[in-house]
Parts: sequence; C-alpha cells; structure tokens
Amino acid sequence: MSNSKFLVRPLVQNLHAYVPGEQPKIKGLIKLNTNENPYPPSPRVLAAVKAAVDGRLRLYPNPIAEKLREKLAKMHCCTPENILVGNGSDEVLALAVRAFVEPFHDPTFRFKNSKPSRAVVQYFTPSYSLYPVLADIHGSAKNPVALNPDFALPALAELKRGLRWDFKAALTLITTPNAPSGRGYPTAELAHLCRAQSGVVLLDEAYADFAAENALPLALDLPHVLVARTFSKAYSLCFQRVGYLVGHPQLIAALHKIRDSYNVNGLGQVAAEATLDDLKYYRAHFKEIIATRDCLSRELAKLGFRVLPSQTNFILARPPKFPAVDWLRKLRDRKLLVRWFSAPEIQDYLRSTVGTPTDAAALVKAAGEICRL
Ligand SMILES: Cc1ncc(COP(=O)(O)O)c(C=O)c1O
Repeated sequence: MSNSKFLVRPLVQNLHAYVPGEQPKIKGLIKLNTNENPYPPSPRVLAAVKAAVDGRLRLYPNPIAEKLREKLAKMHCCTPENILVGNGSDEVLALAVRAFVEPFHDPTFRFKNSKPSRAVVQYFTPSYSLYPVLADIHGSAKNPVALNPDFALPALAELKRGLRWDFKAALTLITTPNAPSGRGYPTAELAHLCRAQSGVVLLDEAYADFAAENALPLALDLPHVLVARTFSKAYSLCFQRVGYLVGHPQLIAALHKIRDSYNVNGLGQVAAEATLDDLKYYRAHFKEIIATRDCLSRELAKLGFRVLPSQTNFILARPPKFPAVDWLRKLRDRKLLVRWFSAPEIQDYLRSTVGTPTDAAALVKAAGEICRL
C-alpha cells in the first residue's frame, strides 16, 4: 500500500498549523482564553439573523457583500471600493499575504533580478501568532523582529540603526493594539513607521474598539497602508466570521481578484449589517468591558500580579508565587480557562479575557485562593 503522506506537498508536510485557543467541551468553565465578547449580539442582530433563516438559504449570498460594504464605507467616511470583507479578519490577512508577497518556491520568481524583500512577511514579536503560519503556508520568508521588552514599538531611529528590520519588506503586519500584551500604540508613531516602509503595511486592529485611538485614517491617507478590523471581538460575532480591510482601491481591487467568489456567508452579512444599525448597544458594552478591565487589573495587582496596561478586551499579567504555566492548571481546576503561551518573552505571563464583572470577580477570587496555597 502506498504511503499517502507523499501525495502532500513537502511544504505542507512540514507545516506547523496555527493552534487556536481551546473550545472546552466541559460545562461550567468560565471561558477567558480567546478574547470573545462576554455579551451577546444585540437583540436586533439576533432578530435579523433569525428572520433570514428561511427558504433563501438555498441561494448564494451577495458575492461582493454589497450592502455591508456600503454601510462600512459610510461609517468610515470612504467608498465601498476602499473595503474588502472576508470570512473573519484571518481570511483577509491570508489574502494580503497571497496578494502582496512572493513565495520563495515560485519558479517564476527570480531573486537575481529582484530584492528578497519581495518575499518577506515582517512582523513584531510577540504579536498575533497566525502571522508566521500564513507566511509558511505561502512559502514566504519571515522576518520576526522583537518589540521592546515592555512591548513598545522600537523607535524608528533604532530600527534604522539595526540590521534586522526590512524597510522594503513586501508585507509588514502590525497588531495594534498589540496582542498578546494589550499595549496600545499612538497613531503618530505608527504613521512614522508606515511612512518609512516601501512595501504594504497592514495594521491589524482587531481590538481597536477598546483602545484610546485607532489608525484607520492612515489607511485612507497612505496608499500602501491597510487596516484590518473584525466583527468577532467588539461586536460579538466570532461565530459568524466577518472581518474586513480598509485601504487604497488599487490594493483592495487586487485582493478582490484572489478571494473566493462567495467568501462571506449570507447570515454573516445579515448579522454584520444589523450590527452597524445598532452601534449604540455595542458602545455601551465597550465602556463596561473597559471599566471591568481596569477594575480586574487593579484587583490582580493587589494580589501581587504584574498587570500590563491594556487597551484591549484582555490583560496580560505575570502571576506571583508559582510559574505561569502552573497557574494555568490551578485556575482550570477552579473552572477558569485563561491562555498561556510558551514563547520566551511571554512564558511568565497569563493572558485573560476581561469577561463580565461576574467573570472577573470569579478570576480574582480563584487567584486569591491560589495565592494563599
Ligand atoms: C490580533 C488578531 N487579529 C485577528 C484575529 C482574528 O479575528 P477573526 O475572528 O476576525 O478572524 C485575532 C483573533 O484572535 C487577533 O487576536
């Protein structure tokens, strides 16, 4: 019998797939591991989705998410040509890698005539752990560059002095506010960095609604800058998978060429459109989540945690007394699921989604018990 493994491309055989946060099967766990919104979608969104579940399910959805793009364009004061919607922001990130970065293994790509930067996906570490996986899937080169120890962006002068940063990288991905640290970056600082790059810069703003400022104007001012947003985190729609990019029509048109014809499912379009009609509901929850975040940070600090300032719906905190990985187990024993990453820069920390005030109180109570062990 033949070994079917060899039917798979070597690149895929050797690939390490992205590891998503656990979706627990056990009931009663407080789930603070994947930065989901603790509040449900608005009643109007639920009603709109329910009303759309009828015989229309046999039809293909709008292939260009027309109404949704119109509404998004109105909200961001641009045109639908500035917007690409995808199956979550993960899809739009993958499309950007495919559209802007050369694969190393492409036989038509000749390094002797072009700079290797054309095949480089560049990003800071730590940031969203999907980026290296997307580069690997595409067969591109990766250029991970360390953030400062406090997770701040290195100063532009410092990047210019060092040898690591590639100002011509085909695609630079910046998570802003940063995940997993929660640190926010001033738009002015991002603008300096964007202006210094000659390749595409994609600012991944998955958590922007919880931050003091956002960099969306850069995507409308600079022709090589894209901003990615998602309905998953702030708008309670992880299940529906809707994310989008804002940027120059020429970049957006290139991405439209390579996406699946019906890349945004119909119910997702309905849900996202209804969300944009009820922003007041969501904005009230942003305020609640921010207030809970600040209270949770203070309470954990009282217990001896080193909590980093966050501009997101999660916190990164270094726990006292036991190694962070032991805390993960001890919290799980107390029915709390948070996230731990093995990367050296963050292995002493735990990341916890903020949750409701009740979730946060449960986390503080369990942390207090563990501290007293
Ligand atoms: C920084 C960042 N970007 C993008 C995503 C993906 O979001 P989506 O659900 O829209 O694919 C996540 C999800 O965890 C994230 O943390």
